[in-house]
Formats: sequence, structure tokens, C-alpha cells
Amino acid sequence: MRPVSFVVPFVLAGVLALTASVPAPAQATAYPDKPPILLGAAWYPEQWPESQWEPDLALMEAAHIHLVRVGEFAWSTMEPSEGHYEFAWLDRAIALAAKHHICVVLGTPTAAPPAWLTTKYPDTLRVDENGRRDEHGNRQQFSFASTRYRHFAHDIAEQMAIHFGHNPDVVGWQLDNEYAEPSFDPEAKAQFHAWLQKKYGTIANLNQHWATAYWSQTYDNFDEIPVRSDHENPALLLEWKRFVSDTWKSYSVNQISAIRPHADPRQFITTNTMGWFDGFDEYVVHSVLDKAAWDDYISTDHYDPADNGARHDLTRGFKRQNFWVMETEPAFVNWRPTNTPLEKGQVRDMAWQAIGHGSDAVEYWQWRSAPNGQEEYHGVLIGIDGKPVPVYDEVKQVGAEFEKAGAALAGTSPHSSVAIIQSYDSRWAIDFQRHSAKFDPVEELVAFYRPLREQTQAVDIVSPDAPLDQYKLVVAPALNVLPQSLADHLIAYVKAGGHLVLGPRSGMKDEYNALNPQRQPGPLADLLGANVSQFYALDEDVPVSGDLGNGTANIWAETLSPSSSDTHTLLTYGPSNGWLDNQPAIVTRMVGKGSITYIGAWLDQPLLDSITAHFVHEAGVQPILPGVPDGVEVCQRTSEQNAGSGKYVLILINHTTTNQHIALPSAMTDLLNSGSVSSVDLPKYGVAVLQN
Ligand code: GLA
Repeated sequence: MRPVSFVVPFVLAGVLALTASVPAPAQATAYPDKPPILLGAAWYPEQWPESQWEPDLALMEAAHIHLVRVGEFAWSTMEPSEGHYEFAWLDRAIALAAKHHICVVLGTPTAAPPAWLTTKYPDTLRVDENGRRDEHGNRQQFSFASTRYRHFAHDIAEQMAIHFGHNPDVVGWQLDNEYAEPSFDPEAKAQFHAWLQKKYGTIANLNQHWATAYWSQTYDNFDEIPVRSDHENPALLLEWKRFVSDTWKSYSVNQISAIRPHADPRQFITTNTMGWFDGFDEYVVHSVLDKAAWDDYISTDHYDPADNGARHDLTRGFKRQNFWVMETEPAFVNWRPTNTPLEKGQVRDMAWQAIGHGSDAVEYWQWRSAPNGQEEYHGVLIGIDGKPVPVYDEVKQVGAEFEKAGAALAGTSPHSSVAIIQSYDSRWAIDFQRHSAKFDPVEELVAFYRPLREQTQAVDIVSPDAPLDQYKLVVAPALNVLPQSLADHLIAYVKAGGHLVLGPRSGMKDEYNALNPQRQPGPLADLLGANVSQFYALDEDVPVSGDLGNGTANIWAETLSPSSSDTHTLLTYGPSNGWLDNQPAIVTRMVGKGSITYIGAWLDQPLLDSITAHFVHEAGVQPILPGVPDGVEVCQRTSEQNAGSGKYVLILINHTTTNQHIALPSAMTDLLNSGSVSSVDLPKYGVAVLQN
């Protein structure tokens, strides 16, 4: 029986100091003998007899794969019984990979506890919101808050780090796998109560901020507070999400504290995230990680380059640095109702899009079909028979291209003068109380992202507290939670000459998810010289017209009421329900050289496109490569913020199914085909990588 006295805070303090001393990761991979842009695959050697490893690795090498992620989910192989560790097999697998010029990311196996652990210590199992404790099986069945589970996780991570922390072929660590579900077990609940007590100090303070006189919610003690993720006081719901974020952060710190003291500083520590997933605040968790990484699976049945590009930009924003695609689909997955494949050519298109948006590695999940298990139908590069499946050749082409273009891309990143603010607090607050069922805050964000990305060809997606000085234009699509501190940050940006565009529902709530005392946009209303007189949920189109064009509002409409003579109305509602008729829908005000604008409605896409074009123009943002045909994506990576100096690489991707001709402003070196070119012709899903 292990002691359960393990206390996270001592680890937290130590590790934050340790991680702070670790040098910031480079903006591109830099491993001797490896291309700076890495092609990789998830490899599970524990699923195979060793005799199969060599042929598999030879096929990887032939496909220019220089990276494998191993160890993830292999807990029962690494620690077959409590306290008995078996790493010799992994030593051999890593050494054999290295022989084939393949480096390794080690996954800690904590997303899949072994049966001996959960059987002997059932208190480590997750409890769902209805109080049902998980049984052993499947994966992710642990409680993220369990002190005992963290003790085991710390031990296995530490043993791995002692063993592999100085292995020259191990380049980094992935903690766990796709953090997702919180637990509602008694320990997690007690931790939530303690977390609230630490934050609020007294129950009277909490009662005041949560306005608990409402529905007789007044609490006498912290442990009376219910623990729920739905149908509760909005303050409680928001604090639960923040607690979950802090708990995943301390879950990470627990493993970082085990790894970092034994690992070379060159070995990064990351985890693999899931795009728009909002179970916790990624900015909080990434504050203790060295690098961001994500699993890029298309979010609908067909590849939507704009949504996919937005998710890359979101991930790049977690640390405001280049990132890795830790998993992506080799044409198809197994978890949709109908797992249609990407079309031939789109796997390569997606790989280059990842690089264009700032990834320095693309890893396919997975290398080879497992002989059994829940994912027998998933896309792979190698079949059960050890022979390539059709998509292998396309991936091999990507690998050859990464080798050709790697040196030019080393040390480069995307840079942008436009930012979209993405706030988990605001997304959660809206989702707790949608008011209009179709108001999906991610869809609203992407509605702004699509035209902005097309018009400027470079957009950052950043946290609300990110520094904004580099941006000419900042768009906050639905910044619902807007406390004074955040308002001060935005006011300073506008007063320094920045152009700020707020979307509907902005500025309604304070940091406790209570209504701001001033009407929307709350603490920004004075700067705007206007406020929202009323919001309305819509289920039919309302005409809008004005200086910025004509179109319709739907889903959401707010009427604005200017109070300042220099606040101008740019768009007005037409006749509809009477409340909206002739009322301002968009207002704007110049503030020195900067401006603040409030868009009160969810607008149809063509109208929103012309509105973003107006603000892009007003802010003086130019596209990287003007005049490219629709459906051709332009990505730029440079070594400096200012594209005029240093390295400069353009990645052009034809997402359409027809040939496209793109004229270049001056001759550039074609890195994939050699030679100097002044224009490129891209076939269906074609890619060009060009250097000046
Ligand atoms: C996730 C997981 C992988 C695998 C893939 C399948 O991303 O991290 O282990 O299950 O999904 O698409």
C-alpha cells in the first residue's frame, strides 16, 4: 500500500521554479542528423513481437519519418506489477529507431492505468457527475484529482525520466493523452471547496459575489456548495471550470516535477490537446508546459481548411510559439458515424497547412493497425500485414518535401498584425446560458476568422491577457466576461493607436460571471461612448443596412444606444419585431489614432466579410500576397516579426479541385521542385513552398 500523503503544492512551487529556468524551446526543431521539420508517427512497439520492429522502422525510414511517439498507454508493459519496472524493451525500441535516424517523444502512460492499480486501489477511478464510479477498462478511467493516482503517476514518470532523461534519442515528453474528463469523486469535491475557500477567503465574500440571496442559495460553509457542471449558479459553473483548469495544471505539474529533475533541459515537456475542446482553460495548463501540441482531426466529415487553420492558430497561441501536430489522420479515423476518407492529395495538403500555420512536426496516428483493440478500423500507414497501405506513398512524399524545405523553414514562424481574442471564460459563460440555441461561441469566432484570414493571410488567436502591442487590429468576437482588469488592457491598446472590434455579447459579465454593473460592454462603455440598450434572441432574419453594406442579422441582435456625439452608427436594423426597427447595430468611435467598434449582431457571412474588410483597411493591414485565387491559402513563415528582413518562406496551398495560377511579386526559389519561379501553377490540392 502506498502512502497517500503526497501533497501537490510542494511540487508546484519547486517545479514552477524549475520550469522557469528551462530555456525557451527553439522555434523549429534542431536535432543533429534530423530535418528541422519532422515527419512522425505514433508507434506502439509493445503491441508487436520484436521481430516486427526492424521491418517497421525500415519502412518508416523509407518514408522519411524521423520521429516516433512511444510509451503512451504502455503502463502495463512498463510496470507490469506494482513497483516493478521493465524498460529494457523500450531501450531496445528506442535504440533501433535511432539506428533508422528516428528520434523519440516519450509518452507518460497515465491515460491508461493498469488493471493491478485500479483493482487494488479503486478509489483512483473517476466518478462521473451522477456519482457513478468508473470500472476498469477502456482508458481515461482515472480521477485527475486523486492523490493516490497522482502518486502512481509521479512514480512511473520519475522512473521513466531516471531511465530516459539523458537518452540522446529522446527529444521530449508528452504527458498523458488528451486530458479531458474531470472527476466528481469525494476528494475532487473537497478540493473544489478548498479551492473556493482559498480564492474567496470567507463564505460571506463568496455569497456576495455569487449573489446567493437568489433562490435561497446563501451558504454557511464552503462544504455546502454543490459540485456540478450544469444547471447551477453561473458563478459556481465558471469557478468549477477554473478549478478543473487548475487541477489539470497541477496534474501536469505532478508529472513535470517527476521528469524535470532527471531530464536534460533540451527535452521538452508537452501534452496533446484537442483544438476547440473547452473542458478546461488551455492557457492555464500551458503556463507549465514547454511547448504546445495538438491532435489534428478534421472537425466535420470533410476537411474545412479555414476551421482547421483556425485550430492551428489557436494552438500556436497557447504559448505564442511554434507548436507540434502530435497526431493527425492518415486519411480517416474510426470514431465518426461515417468515417469518410480525406481525398487523395488532402493528406499532403493538411500536412503543409500545419507547417504553414507554425507547426514544426506532423505525426500520423497511427503507424500500423494494432492486432486488436477498439481502433481496428482507424486509418494507418501500414496494414496488419506490415505492408504499406495506399496513403503511405502520399505521406512519404510529404517526408521527402519536409527534408527539402526544412533548412529554409528552420528558425521561422508565422507573424501577424491581426489578433482574435479567444476567452475560455467567455465561451463557458455563453454556453452555460446560450439564450439563443444556435449561438455557438466557436462558430461565432470562426465566422470572424474566415474573412480575416483570407483578407490578411495571417491571424493570431490569443488569450485575453496576451500582449497586444504588435497588432494593428484586435477582434474579440464575443468577449462576454470582461472584468475591469481586462478592460484596462484593451483600453490601453486602443489609446496606443490600436483598432479594437468587439462582437455581440461582449462586456456583459464580470470575473464572477455576475452582470457587470454597467450595461454592455460594461467597463468599455465609456470608451465606446455607447452601450447596449437590450439584447434579443432571433430565430429569423432581420434586415440590416448602413455604411458597411446590407444583409441580415440572425441568432442574436443587440440594440446600441450612443451617448457621445463622436460615436457613429455604421449599421442599422430594418423593420422586424419593432424593438429593433431603425436601431443601431454597429457603432464605432475614434480614440486618437485608434478606434473601438461594437458589432451587436450575428451577421450573415457575406456582410461580415465586408465588415472585416473595412476594419482591415482602416487598421492598415495588407495581405501577404494580394490577388490570389479563392481557395488558395497563403502562409508565411519568417525569422523576424518584420518580413522585410531575415528568412522568408511562403507556403501556397490550393485547397480547390481545379488548377490555380498564382503570380509572385518577384522571383522566388521553389524549394520542392528547385529553380527560380515568378509564378506557380498548382494542381488540385497542390502545394508550393517558396523562399526569397
Ligand atoms: C485520439 C487519441 C489517440 C487515438 C486517436 C484516434 O487523438 O489521442 O490515442 O485514439 O484519437 O483518432
